[in-house]
Amino acid sequence: METNQLHHQISILLVNWYETNQRSLPWRKDYSPYSVWISEIMLQQTQVDRVIPYYFRWMQQFPTLESVSIASYDDLLRFWEGLGYYSRVKFIHKTSKIIRNQYGCQFPKNHQKLLELPGIGPYTAGAIMSIAFNQNYPLVDGNIIRILSRIFNIENSVKQRETKNYIWKKAEELILPGKARWLNQALMELGALVCTPKTPRCLECPVQKSCLSFHLGCVEKRPVVPPSKKIVPIQVVVGVLLKDGLFFIQQRPPNGLMADLWEFPGGKINPGEKPEDALIREFREELQFKIHIGNKIATLKHGYTNFSVTLHAYFCQLIPENQFPVLHFASNYRWVKPQDLFHYAFPAANRRLIDILTKLSPISS
Ligand code: ADE
Repeated sequence: METNQLHHQISILLVNWYETNQRSLPWRKDYSPYSVWISEIMLQQTQVDRVIPYYFRWMQQFPTLESVSIASYDDLLRFWEGLGYYSRVKFIHKTSKIIRNQYGCQFPKNHQKLLELPGIGPYTAGAIMSIAFNQNYPLVDGNIIRILSRIFNIENSVKQRETKNYIWKKAEELILPGKARWLNQALMELGALVCTPKTPRCLECPVQKSCLSFHLGCVEKRPVVPPSKKIVPIQVVVGVLLKDGLFFIQQRPPNGLMADLWEFPGGKINPGEKPEDALIREFREELQFKIHIGNKIATLKHGYTNFSVTLHAYFCQLIPENQFPVLHFASNYRWVKPQDLFHYAFPAANRRLIDILTKLSPISS
């Protein structure tokens, strides 16, 4: 069969399959560019099940692009807390203001103009153009890389630029004119339900007959990826500093890891260093605070993308009591009441620590 014809047939089978097999997901209701944009940004690097409650909460609080553009950045962060990759929130905020100011709150129906917006790359621009506006644009994410690597038996590493370009070209060739909304979602759905990373359900696959790696028996060897980076274990210590019933929290710098989130002060424990000594050092280096360490609160383990953190948490006190912080790391600090800790966005392990603190009787007021 001629290549064009083969692509056409694959696409028709996918769209037909999607019609009867799609999941009912909250962002598949009105296909407004705003809901497509928010859902696609949330879904980057994050599983559907995890995104759904965040998506509902977000849409309840910020039902329109305008409501995002006039919200405070801190408010947006609070509704994102726990989803990770927090720079996404900064981009959403910036982009919402640009769309309000330059486009009267309407998303431009123009691929190039979308690409100029902060945080909108080829994937998200393709998603808005195809899913919201049903225009003939492809999109490629991890799921689609996997599916196309298998169907076309791509033997080169998908991390290479040329391979990525080739996959984008294939995704473009699969677009059925006038059906991009359904074709692109069909690919996503196939990746989630059938063409999964491990033990794919090839017997249920609508395009099994056209799948080259199925015929060659190498489905599970596709996509070809270089060995993944090792997850680095790190030990961290944090101090819950209490004064007159208030907690000391600081805001992380605007760039880098977990930018702008709030946290209890602390840091990495050096090799051979005791957690308590590391805590005293970190308070001195970050804040010029002299502290005494009290009881240990908990040891928590938390997995991030590239490292696994063991977090040791201690109560601590300022000695002498009357000291003022000099900020060498944080961009901001506050003394807050226990019940107000919910108004700030914290990294996941800090939030778990707060949950423990709220269960301890003196703090649950
Ligand atoms: N993954 C990324 N985008 C998605 C979408 N719109 N629906 C389901 N899963 C997705």
